[in-house]
Amino acid sequence: MQTAFANRLGIEHPLIQAPMSGSTPPALVAAVSNAGALGSLGAGYLEAQAILDQAAQVRALGKRPYAIGLFVLPDEFEADMAAVAKARKQLDALMAREGLAVRTSLPSRWAPRFSEQFAALCEARPAVAIFAFGVIAPAQMRELHRRDICVIGTATTVAEARAWADAGADAVSLQGAEAGGHRGSFLHEAEDAMIGLFALLPLAARAVNVPLIAAGGIMDGRGMLAAEVLGAAASQLGTAFLACPECSAAEAWKRDLPLAEEHRVTTIRGFSGRAARGLRNRFVEAMPAAAQGLPYPVLNALTAPLRRAAAEAGRGDLLSEWCGQAAGLVRAQPAGELVARLVHEYRQARRALAG
Ligand SMILES: Cc1cc2nc3c(=O)[nH]c(=O)nc-3n(C[C@H](O)[C@H](O)[C@H](O)COP(=O)(O)O)c2cc1C
Repeated sequence: MQTAFANRLGIEHPLIQAPMSGSTPPALVAAVSNAGALGSLGAGYLEAQAILDQAAQVRALGKRPYAIGLFVLPDEFEADMAAVAKARKQLDALMAREGLAVRTSLPSRWAPRFSEQFAALCEARPAVAIFAFGVIAPAQMRELHRRDICVIGTATTVAEARAWADAGADAVSLQGAEAGGHRGSFLHEAEDAMIGLFALLPLAARAVNVPLIAAGGIMDGRGMLAAEVLGAAASQLGTAFLACPECSAAEAWKRDLPLAEEHRVTTIRGFSGRAARGLRNRFVEAMPAAAQGLPYPVLNALTAPLRRAAAEAGRGDLLSEWCGQAAGLVRAQPAGELVARLVHEYRQARRALAG
């Protein structure tokens, strides 16, 4: 499966395990990279030192190329503290009603500072950096290229793909509406930017002249081939890797994935304040009205201890169970074996089409 793009990244297969902040520990990233694909450390919620520590662990587990993924955000956030107090009261009441012995607390900071995360990424110097939620500044692009780091920008529309191409990105990850996790949209409201991958890929391929990566709903080798036919240089799979034993997703979440009915995989703002795709569960249905108005990352920080406690208690119904629309096709197997299986399926599908 060698392609020009895979050669450029220094990987054997044009397959990227998506950075999934909170669920991609070094063991998963290294297992994927050691199998010849590109493992990605989702570092959106990590402080700078943790990024350096986890990157060092990935390097210690193998010498293959890997990626670090960050969210492009301002360093500081203002919060309406009256709205925060109201939301906390309602969230605490919900947890009490659900019998979970945990309450919200005020974090020292709403989110790690992007400038510090970015400096850590530069120091860790992975082969690839993947960004979502916005475009990086020209000086940051120059800094990454000076260090020979390949830059992938996430886009949910053609206009966003153009913005990344104009900024000098080496490739654009097209996040179709099917995709699990947070929407990467930054030029449009997330609800307006729900473009299916089958529409987005050929539209973007006509508009920009950089390699395109297909993300959203791809769960097997057939999907990878379909993406290639529509113009993708590589496929980026998130949900497919969530059930791997190396993945740190909660056991309740892993158990719920193969049972996910596609009409219950929906767009949710109530866990983080930002649109994200995941399973409609008890929390989503009972989400307090006050919490619904809070923006990202304020709500994300407030619900973090609740989600941690829900995971520890095995309460998948109170957990943010992010996943793409095709979650029901997930296969639980070690990440290296999954990569080999995906590549095998891709080759089989290719041969079958050739007749
Ligand atoms: C649990 C989860 C967490 C995610 N976190 C990130 C992230 O930190 N950074 C990012 O660029 N994309 C993130 N994504 C989105 C993926 O990059 C990708 O677009 C998506 O997984 C593709 O759809 P699929 O899940 O159907 O394969 C996440 C996706 C999931 C499922």
